[in-house]
Amino acid sequence: MCGIVGYVGSRSALDLLVPGLERLEYRGYDSAGVALAEPEGIRIVRKAGRIADLERVLQGEPMPAATVGMGHTRWATHGAPTTSNAHPHRDCTGRVAVVHNGIIENWAELKAELVGNGHVFASDTDTEVVAHLVEELADLPLEEAVRQVMRRAEGALALVVIRADEPDVVVGARRGSPLVVGLGEGENFLASDIPAFLAYTRRMAVLEDDRVVRLDADTATITDLDGNPVAVQERHVEWDLEAAEKGGYPTFMLKEIYEQPQAIADTLRGRFDQAGRVRLRELELSDDVLRAVDKVFVVACGTSYHAAMMAKYAIERWTRLPTEIDIASEFRYRDPVLDDRTLVIGISQSGETADTLAAIRYAKAQGSVVVGVSNVVDSSLAREADAVLYTRAGPEIGVAATKTFTTQLVALQLFGLHLARARGSLDDGAIELLTSGIRALPDQVRRVLELDGEIAEMASRWAGTRDFFFLGRSGDFPVAMEGALKLKEIAYVRAEGYPAGEMKHGPIALIEPGVVVVGVATDSHVRQKTFANMEEMRARGGEIFMVVEEGDEAARKVADHAIAVPAAPDLVCTVTAVVPLQLLAYHIATERGFDVDKPRNLAKTVTVE
Ligand code: AGP
Repeated sequence: MCGIVGYVGSRSALDLLVPGLERLEYRGYDSAGVALAEPEGIRIVRKAGRIADLERVLQGEPMPAATVGMGHTRWATHGAPTTSNAHPHRDCTGRVAVVHNGIIENWAELKAELVGNGHVFASDTDTEVVAHLVEELADLPLEEAVRQVMRRAEGALALVVIRADEPDVVVGARRGSPLVVGLGEGENFLASDIPAFLAYTRRMAVLEDDRVVRLDADTATITDLDGNPVAVQERHVEWDLEAAEKGGYPTFMLKEIYEQPQAIADTLRGRFDQAGRVRLRELELSDDVLRAVDKVFVVACGTSYHAAMMAKYAIERWTRLPTEIDIASEFRYRDPVLDDRTLVIGISQSGETADTLAAIRYAKAQGSVVVGVSNVVDSSLAREADAVLYTRAGPEIGVAATKTFTTQLVALQLFGLHLARARGSLDDGAIELLTSGIRALPDQVRRVLELDGEIAEMASRWAGTRDFFFLGRSGDFPVAMEGALKLKEIAYVRAEGYPAGEMKHGPIALIEPGVVVVGVATDSHVRQKTFANMEEMRARGGEIFMVVEEGDEAARKVADHAIAVPAAPDLVCTVTAVVPLQLLAYHIATERGFDVDKPRNLAKTVTVE
């Protein structure tokens, strides 16, 4: 996720671009940059860091008074968050500049071809290929050149392109990543999101996938990739600026819950080969290294630890490698037995959690192979691990992890299959079943989100309830743990996550009328056993709410209330099963009047022991 903005009109472009970028900083803050178009050439200023850092550089630079330009605030997905990787990127001549939000899946092939044609690259980004491709099409109008690039590039692209030869024109294109057109009087805008131009116009149009838009000061023309005109569907924005920054959602947390289908699609993007098999080329760990491993440890904290719990089940089931999990703050002091045949996976959305970093440093010192799973490109975890798998959820502003959790689950499932393929531990049929289940997740999560109204009703019923248990077995257990953690941290309600089968060994003494017991039963291995445990809770007066798979009629018999998520292979289903619990916690917290984005006593990233 990145923020992009383009402007063409009669005012100083720079004076509009920088405030526009500030409004989009929630989309990324690894680096920022602007490009201004003039007939003599394009002036680009970029800086690693936040927009404030770019502004400091701009203050010291004489900038042209151009009326056409574009800007970018970056959330790195490809290449470290350095100034040289900051957007805008240019071609060899310096007469074309590009900003991009998304991931170009076939960038390596395109780059190889362009290098073969003599192009010289100045960054490690996938985006730069677009600038050089446009350079190759210098004889065509910019709009047509961009259409041709869109036909060649695979993956997600929201692009804004300017060229010195057409200094009064901005061209945008979209596939997969958002891009909206702001329609002003004698000026027009392009942006990833409405807040970037809302101070100047409330008239806008959403650019659909595989559309190219050409803007000059007075006109906005949209075409499909064959150049056929497409009508501009103008809308009027009713939101105020604050609501617009949250995409119309009342909180960042709810917005992030709703971003999950897109975030998961981004996590999956480019991670399959032509035959549809998982290929994590970016891992740079040879199959020989993966085959030599004889034991796995997964370490993390908080929500990331719940992802580790799922990873244990997945790695053990799919690869038959003994897998241990540890809360990072425990791991570092318990003297675990590691050696150079141990694979240690550190999971941290921020990549900066002190305990997780200490754990992987310990593992490295023992000679183990360390893989990091992080949402932040070039985080400390990413830099220190031997290999890294990014979750690509985009920045998460709400303190409670939601989209970073589901994308961790997906990334770890991909990693499990990658390991299974390298070790030959699963047959093709099983791999295919799991892979197609994983690929269906974005749509399935979208369907679960449609149940929000139903979940909100249950939440209002339980807004005053003081005691919750969240129970599950096998892959449903980490989901239950995560559901309980969400409720604790944002609704300040006592909620215990527990293995369903363990309740009878003590905690069942706490079950009485007034206690809500949330059961998760999606894992086919143990579903019937979970139902039996839930019967035991009901017999003691607990009110039973179950998350089950669609079509599971048996669940209805034990549950007072049930939410059904689409059926998926075991463990893959953790991704859909957790979404109702995120929404339940969210609605209980808001019913109770709490600020879910900034829960008390918590910090988004814990960099102390
Ligand atoms: C999740 O909602 C929490 N805010 C917290 O448990 C978090 O998951 C934990 O601090 C780990 O953070 P990390 O993933 O950035 O390492």
